[in-house]
Amino acid sequence: MNRKLYFQVKGIKIYNDDFLSTKYVQEGMVDLIVTSPPYNIDIKYNSYDDKLSYNVYLKFTKKWLEKAYELIKDDGRFCLNIPLDKNKGGQQSVYADIITIAKEVGWKYHSTIVWNEQNISRRTAWGSWLSASAPYVIAPVEMIVVLYKKQWKKLSGSRRSDITKKEFMEWTNGVWNFMGESKKRVGHPTPFPVELPRRCIKLFTFVDDTILDPFLGSGSSLIACALTKRKGIGVEIDRNYCEIAKQRLITEVEINQLMLNVFQGRK
Ligand SMILES: C[S@@+](CC[C@H](N)C(=O)[O-])C[C@H]1O[C@@H](n2cnc3c(N)ncnc32)[C@H](O)[C@@H]1O
Repeated sequence: MNRKLYFQVKGIKIYNDDFLSTKYVQEGMVDLIVTSPPYNIDIKYNSYDDKLSYNVYLKFTKKWLEKAYELIKDDGRFCLNIPLDKNKGGQQSVYADIITIAKEVGWKYHSTIVWNEQNISRRTAWGSWLSASAPYVIAPVEMIVVLYKKQWKKLSGSRRSDITKKEFMEWTNGVWNFMGESKKRVGHPTPFPVELPRRCIKLFTFVDDTILDPFLGSGSSLIACALTKRKGIGVEIDRNYCEIAKQRLITEVEINQLMLNVFQGRK
């Protein structure tokens, strides 16, 4: 077995590697990338420094966006979960800056989904309280930018969609309302909920397509792949997080499936 192939099960693979230099994902085999990169907000990851200068962070962003562009199919799509802006340690227009870089790299812009995390408890910084001197405005949302490589119309793949009418109607409305995931429960500092990649996968790919998450973290995207019967590749630089992703794949897929069945009124 390959040294960096950390785990595989039924079309799903976890690579313990640096996405910038990895050679384990072949060019032109990915139908959809869905990911949430580090946000550069001083999160204490095990193996990644999340406190770069903004310029260095944007250079890192450009590098990995280039690599992602090489790997995706010509009719491939990209759902990029990023913050709208940065409020601590110097305000920055992160969403606008990353889209500008993505377009420089060659990515084409399609649309943006606003994920309303419904999490108001995080609010602590008000700037100047009850004063116009220097108040802060903070939007409790994250963005999911939808990009594509060359053509939006999807020509490759099985052409089999598994999205229901209700899901299609609801998810093509570009404001998504669902809760974030608990760091404590998952054991990773910044997990996104499985619902985020699950919606992206069902809306933007056919059954049997291949999904890549270059910043796998705790494995949420691969759980979504298993639930939707897609092939999945995850790359994660930190070995401990690969282990968390592996354990979640072993234990959580079935539970998630049962919950979805109950929610959708099936047995
Ligand atoms: C925002 S987190 C992703 C969280 C993930 N969506 C989840 O649900 O758990 C970003 C992840 O990228 C990883 N990372 C940072 N630099 C990396 C690199 N060059 N290659 C691969 N993974 C990297 C970090 O260790 C971290 O786990």
